[in-house]
Amino acid sequence: MTGKMTISQLQKMTDDGEKISMVTAYDYPMALLVDRAGIDTVLVGDSVGDNMLGYSNTVPVTMDEMIHHTKAVRRGLHQAFLVGDMPFLSFQVSTEKAIENAGRFMKEGGVEAVKLEGGEEIADTLHKMVKLGIAVMGHIGFTPQREAQFGARRLNVSDEDTARKVLNDAKILEEAGAFSIVLEKMPSQLAQIISDRLTIPTIGIGSGVHCDGQVLVITDILGLASREFKHAKRYANLSEIIEQAVRAYHGEVKSGLFPSEEHGFKMKDELLQNLK
Ligand code: KIV
Repeated sequence: MTGKMTISQLQKMTDDGEKISMVTAYDYPMALLVDRAGIDTVLVGDSVGDNMLGYSNTVPVTMDEMIHHTKAVRRGLHQAFLVGDMPFLSFQVSTEKAIENAGRFMKEGGVEAVKLEGGEEIADTLHKMVKLGIAVMGHIGFTPQREAQFGARRLNVSDEDTARKVLNDAKILEEAGAFSIVLEKMPSQLAQIISDRLTIPTIGIGSGVHCDGQVLVITDILGLASREFKHAKRYANLSEIIEQAVRAYHGEVKSGLFPSEEHGFKMKDELLQNLK
Protein backbone atom coordinates (compact mmCIF):
# COMPACT_ATOMS: atom_id res chain seq x y z
CA MET A 1 0.00 0.00 0.00
CA THR A 2 1.24 3.52 -0.76
CA GLY A 3 -0.29 6.75 0.59
CA LYS A 4 -2.88 7.13 3.29
CA MET A 5 -5.80 4.68 3.15
CA THR A 6 -9.25 6.23 2.82
CA ILE A 7 -12.87 5.06 2.85
CA SER A 8 -13.15 5.55 -0.91
CA GLN A 9 -10.03 3.43 -1.44
CA LEU A 10 -11.48 0.68 0.77
CA GLN A 11 -14.70 0.82 -1.26
CA LYS A 12 -12.74 0.69 -4.51
CA MET A 13 -10.85 -2.36 -3.28
CA THR A 14 -14.18 -4.10 -2.72
CA ASP A 15 -15.55 -2.96 -6.08
CA ASP A 16 -12.38 -4.31 -7.75
CA GLY A 17 -12.50 -7.60 -5.84
CA GLU A 18 -9.36 -6.86 -3.81
CA LYS A 19 -9.55 -8.15 -0.22
CA ILE A 20 -9.11 -5.72 2.70
CA SER A 21 -6.75 -6.63 5.55
CA MET A 22 -7.53 -5.40 9.06
CA VAL A 23 -5.92 -6.13 12.39
CA THR A 24 -6.25 -4.85 15.92
CA ALA A 25 -3.46 -2.88 17.60
CA TYR A 26 -3.39 -1.41 21.07
CA ASP A 27 -0.05 0.39 21.40
CA TYR A 28 2.61 2.39 19.58
CA PRO A 29 5.22 -0.29 18.78
CA MET A 30 2.61 -2.65 17.36
CA ALA A 31 1.05 0.16 15.33
CA LEU A 32 4.45 0.91 13.77
CA LEU A 33 4.92 -2.76 12.87
CA VAL A 34 1.48 -3.47 11.40
CA ASP A 35 1.63 -0.23 9.41
CA ARG A 36 5.06 -1.15 8.07
CA ALA A 37 3.72 -4.60 7.15
CA GLY A 38 1.19 -2.91 4.84
CA ILE A 39 -2.07 -3.60 6.70
CA ASP A 40 -4.98 -1.62 5.18
CA THR A 41 -7.01 -0.94 8.32
CA VAL A 42 -6.20 -0.93 12.03
CA LEU A 43 -8.82 -1.30 14.74
CA VAL A 44 -8.19 -0.25 18.31
CA GLY A 45 -10.64 -2.89 19.49
CA ASP A 46 -12.35 -2.97 22.85
CA SER A 47 -10.70 -6.41 22.88
CA VAL A 48 -7.91 -4.37 24.50
CA GLY A 49 -9.85 -5.33 27.65
CA ASP A 50 -9.19 -9.07 27.52
CA ASN A 51 -5.95 -8.91 25.52
CA MET A 52 -4.03 -6.10 27.18
CA LEU A 53 -5.75 -5.09 30.42
CA GLY A 54 -6.48 -8.50 31.96
CA TYR A 55 -10.29 -8.13 32.07
CA SER A 56 -12.26 -11.32 31.48
CA ASN A 57 -14.21 -9.72 28.61
CA THR A 58 -14.76 -6.37 26.84
CA VAL A 59 -17.60 -5.11 29.05
CA PRO A 60 -15.50 -3.21 31.68
CA VAL A 61 -13.52 -1.22 29.06
CA THR A 62 -14.05 2.56 29.42
CA MET A 63 -13.87 5.42 26.94
CA ASP A 64 -10.84 6.82 28.77
CA GLU A 65 -8.99 3.50 28.34
CA MET A 66 -9.91 3.40 24.65
CA ILE A 67 -8.70 6.97 24.11
CA HIS A 68 -5.43 6.26 25.92
CA HIS A 69 -4.64 3.27 23.66
CA THR A 70 -5.94 4.95 20.50
CA LYS A 71 -3.62 7.95 20.96
CA ALA A 72 -0.64 5.59 21.13
CA VAL A 73 -1.73 3.67 18.02
CA ARG A 74 -2.37 6.92 16.12
CA ARG A 75 1.24 7.99 16.69
CA GLY A 76 2.49 4.77 15.09
CA LEU A 77 0.37 4.79 11.92
CA HIS A 78 1.31 6.52 8.70
CA GLN A 79 -0.68 4.69 6.03
CA ALA A 80 -3.34 2.44 7.52
CA PHE A 81 -6.93 3.59 8.10
CA LEU A 82 -7.66 3.88 11.84
CA VAL A 83 -10.93 2.78 13.46
CA GLY A 84 -11.78 3.22 17.15
CA ASP A 85 -14.11 0.70 18.79
CA MET A 86 -16.89 2.25 20.88
CA PRO A 87 -16.94 0.35 24.19
CA PHE A 88 -20.01 -0.98 26.01
CA LEU A 89 -22.48 1.80 26.98
CA SER A 90 -20.51 4.52 25.19
CA PHE A 91 -23.16 4.69 22.44
CA GLN A 92 -26.22 2.69 23.59
CA VAL A 93 -27.55 5.09 26.26
CA SER A 94 -28.39 7.99 23.95
CA THR A 95 -27.53 9.36 20.52
CA GLU A 96 -26.09 12.48 22.20
CA LYS A 97 -23.70 10.36 24.23
CA ALA A 98 -22.74 8.34 21.14
CA ILE A 99 -21.93 11.52 19.19
CA GLU A 100 -19.98 12.96 22.12
CA ASN A 101 -17.90 9.80 22.54
CA ALA A 102 -17.31 9.37 18.81
CA GLY A 103 -16.18 13.00 18.83
CA ARG A 104 -13.68 12.17 21.57
CA PHE A 105 -12.34 9.31 19.46
CA MET A 106 -11.85 11.68 16.51
CA LYS A 107 -10.57 14.77 18.35
CA GLU A 108 -8.44 13.12 21.05
CA GLY A 109 -7.66 9.74 19.48
CA GLY A 110 -7.28 10.92 15.89
CA VAL A 111 -9.33 8.08 14.37
CA GLU A 112 -10.79 8.20 10.89
CA ALA A 113 -13.87 6.19 11.91
CA VAL A 114 -15.58 4.48 14.82
CA LYS A 115 -17.14 1.02 15.08
CA LEU A 116 -20.43 0.20 16.83
CA GLU A 117 -21.72 -3.26 17.74
CA GLY A 118 -25.37 -3.92 16.97
CA GLY A 119 -28.01 -4.07 14.23
CA GLU A 120 -31.39 -2.42 13.66
CA GLU A 121 -31.56 -1.16 17.28
CA ILE A 122 -28.57 1.18 16.75
CA ALA A 123 -29.41 2.22 13.17
CA ASP A 124 -30.97 5.60 14.11
CA THR A 125 -27.95 6.56 16.19
CA LEU A 126 -25.59 5.42 13.44
CA HIS A 127 -27.55 7.44 10.85
CA LYS A 128 -27.38 10.63 12.94
CA MET A 129 -23.66 10.16 13.51
CA VAL A 130 -23.02 9.72 9.77
CA LYS A 131 -25.10 12.82 8.99
CA LEU A 132 -22.89 14.81 11.35
CA GLY A 133 -19.73 13.69 9.56
CA ILE A 134 -18.69 10.69 11.66
CA ALA A 135 -17.66 7.65 9.60
CA VAL A 136 -19.13 4.51 11.16
CA MET A 137 -18.33 0.83 10.75
CA GLY A 138 -21.04 -1.62 11.85
CA HIS A 139 -20.50 -4.93 13.65
CA ILE A 140 -23.06 -7.76 13.58
CA GLY A 141 -23.24 -11.53 14.09
CA PHE A 142 -21.56 -12.46 17.35
CA THR A 143 -21.07 -9.17 19.20
CA PRO A 144 -18.77 -9.66 22.22
CA GLN A 145 -20.36 -6.85 24.27
CA ARG A 146 -23.46 -9.11 24.48
CA GLU A 147 -21.61 -12.32 25.17
CA ALA A 148 -23.75 -13.04 28.23
CA GLN A 149 -26.89 -13.02 26.04
CA PHE A 150 -25.39 -15.28 23.36
CA GLY A 151 -24.42 -18.08 25.72
CA ALA A 152 -21.71 -19.11 23.23
CA ARG A 153 -18.78 -17.39 21.56
CA ARG A 154 -20.34 -17.44 18.08
CA LEU A 155 -23.67 -16.72 16.41
CA ASN A 156 -25.67 -19.94 16.26
CA VAL A 157 -27.91 -19.83 13.21
CA SER A 158 -30.28 -22.80 13.42
CA ASP A 159 -33.46 -21.24 12.00
CA GLU A 160 -34.48 -18.99 9.13
CA ASP A 161 -35.69 -16.15 11.39
CA THR A 162 -32.26 -15.72 12.93
CA ALA A 163 -30.56 -15.76 9.52
CA ARG A 164 -33.06 -13.26 8.11
CA LYS A 165 -32.62 -10.96 11.11
CA VAL A 166 -28.84 -10.81 10.56
CA LEU A 167 -29.30 -10.18 6.84
CA ASN A 168 -31.86 -7.49 7.62
CA ASP A 169 -29.53 -5.86 10.18
CA ALA A 170 -26.77 -5.72 7.56
CA LYS A 171 -29.04 -4.03 5.01
CA ILE A 172 -30.40 -1.56 7.57
CA LEU A 173 -26.89 -0.54 8.66
CA GLU A 174 -25.83 -0.04 5.05
CA GLU A 175 -28.90 2.11 4.43
CA ALA A 176 -28.22 4.07 7.62
CA GLY A 177 -24.83 5.05 6.21
CA ALA A 178 -22.26 2.56 7.58
CA PHE A 179 -19.21 2.55 5.28
CA SER A 180 -18.37 -1.07 6.16
CA ILE A 181 -19.61 -3.86 8.46
CA VAL A 182 -17.75 -6.44 10.53
CA LEU A 183 -19.39 -9.90 10.34
CA GLU A 184 -18.29 -11.86 13.39
CA LYS A 185 -18.44 -15.63 13.83
CA MET A 186 -21.49 -16.40 11.74
CA PRO A 187 -21.90 -19.28 9.27
CA SER A 188 -19.78 -18.60 6.21
CA GLN A 189 -22.74 -19.16 3.85
CA LEU A 190 -24.69 -16.39 5.58
CA ALA A 191 -21.66 -14.06 5.45
CA GLN A 192 -21.41 -14.81 1.73
CA ILE A 193 -25.06 -13.88 1.12
CA ILE A 194 -24.62 -10.65 3.09
CA SER A 195 -21.40 -9.80 1.26
CA ASP A 196 -23.09 -10.40 -2.11
CA ARG A 197 -26.12 -8.27 -1.22
CA LEU A 198 -24.24 -5.28 0.24
CA THR A 199 -22.30 -2.73 -1.76
CA ILE A 200 -20.10 -1.65 1.17
CA PRO A 201 -17.17 -3.84 2.28
CA THR A 202 -17.87 -6.64 4.77
CA ILE A 203 -14.97 -7.51 7.06
CA GLY A 204 -15.15 -11.04 8.42
CA ILE A 205 -13.82 -12.61 11.57
CA GLY A 206 -14.59 -16.31 11.80
CA SER A 207 -17.14 -15.84 8.98
CA GLY A 208 -15.44 -17.46 6.02
CA VAL A 209 -13.50 -16.45 2.96
CA HIS A 210 -16.29 -14.73 1.04
CA CYS A 211 -16.24 -11.52 3.09
CA ASP A 212 -14.64 -8.52 1.36
CA GLY A 213 -11.89 -8.40 3.98
CA GLN A 214 -10.69 -10.09 7.14
CA VAL A 215 -9.90 -8.87 10.65
CA LEU A 216 -7.99 -10.70 13.36
CA VAL A 217 -6.89 -9.77 16.86
CA ILE A 218 -3.13 -9.11 16.84
CA THR A 219 -2.39 -11.21 19.92
CA ASP A 220 -4.04 -14.22 18.21
CA ILE A 221 -1.92 -13.76 15.07
CA LEU A 222 1.28 -13.48 17.08
CA GLY A 223 0.66 -16.24 19.61
CA LEU A 224 0.45 -13.82 22.52
CA ALA A 225 -3.08 -14.78 23.58
CA SER A 226 -3.58 -17.09 26.52
CA ARG A 227 -5.55 -19.54 24.36
CA GLU A 228 -6.10 -20.46 20.72
CA PHE A 229 -9.43 -19.83 18.99
CA LYS A 230 -10.96 -21.85 16.13
CA HIS A 231 -11.55 -18.75 14.00
CA ALA A 232 -8.02 -17.37 14.32
CA LYS A 233 -4.73 -18.39 12.72
CA ARG A 234 -1.46 -18.15 14.62
CA TYR A 235 1.31 -16.89 12.33
CA ALA A 236 4.03 -16.78 15.02
CA ASN A 237 4.60 -17.92 18.57
CA LEU A 238 5.86 -14.78 20.27
CA SER A 239 4.92 -16.03 23.76
CA GLU A 240 7.61 -18.68 23.46
CA ILE A 241 10.16 -16.27 21.97
CA ILE A 242 9.51 -13.61 24.63
CA GLU A 243 9.64 -16.09 27.50
CA GLN A 244 12.91 -17.55 26.21
CA ALA A 245 14.45 -14.09 25.84
CA VAL A 246 13.43 -12.99 29.33
CA ARG A 247 14.66 -16.30 30.83
CA ALA A 248 18.02 -15.79 29.12
CA TYR A 249 18.28 -12.22 30.45
CA HIS A 250 17.27 -13.33 33.96
CA GLY A 251 19.87 -16.10 33.87
CA GLU A 252 22.65 -13.78 32.66
CA VAL A 253 21.87 -11.18 35.34
CA LYS A 254 22.05 -13.88 38.01
CA SER A 255 25.29 -15.33 36.64
CA GLY A 256 26.94 -11.95 36.01
CA LEU A 257 27.23 -12.57 32.25
CA PHE A 258 25.20 -9.42 31.62
CA PRO A 259 26.20 -6.64 31.35
CA SER A 260 29.55 -7.20 29.63
CA GLU A 261 32.01 -4.40 28.83
CA GLU A 262 30.34 -3.66 25.49
CA HIS A 263 27.10 -2.62 27.23
CA GLY A 264 28.73 -0.09 29.58
CA PHE A 265 30.44 3.30 29.52
CA LYS A 266 33.96 4.32 30.66
CA MET A 267 35.50 7.52 31.93
CA LYS A 268 39.02 8.74 31.10
CA ASP A 269 41.88 6.97 32.98
CA GLU A 270 43.24 10.33 34.16
CA LEU A 271 39.97 11.26 35.81
CA LEU A 272 39.80 7.82 37.37
CA GLN A 273 43.31 8.20 38.86
CA ASN A 274 42.37 11.56 40.38
CA LEU A 275 39.27 10.09 41.92
CA LYS A 276 41.19 7.18 43.35
O1 KIV B 1 -12.56 -5.53 19.62
C1 KIV B 1 -12.24 -6.23 18.64
O2 KIV B 1 -11.12 -6.78 18.57
C2 KIV B 1 -13.21 -6.41 17.58
C3 KIV B 1 -12.83 -7.29 16.43
C4 KIV B 1 -12.86 -8.69 16.85
C5 KIV B 1 -13.66 -7.06 15.25
O3 KIV B 1 -14.26 -5.87 17.64
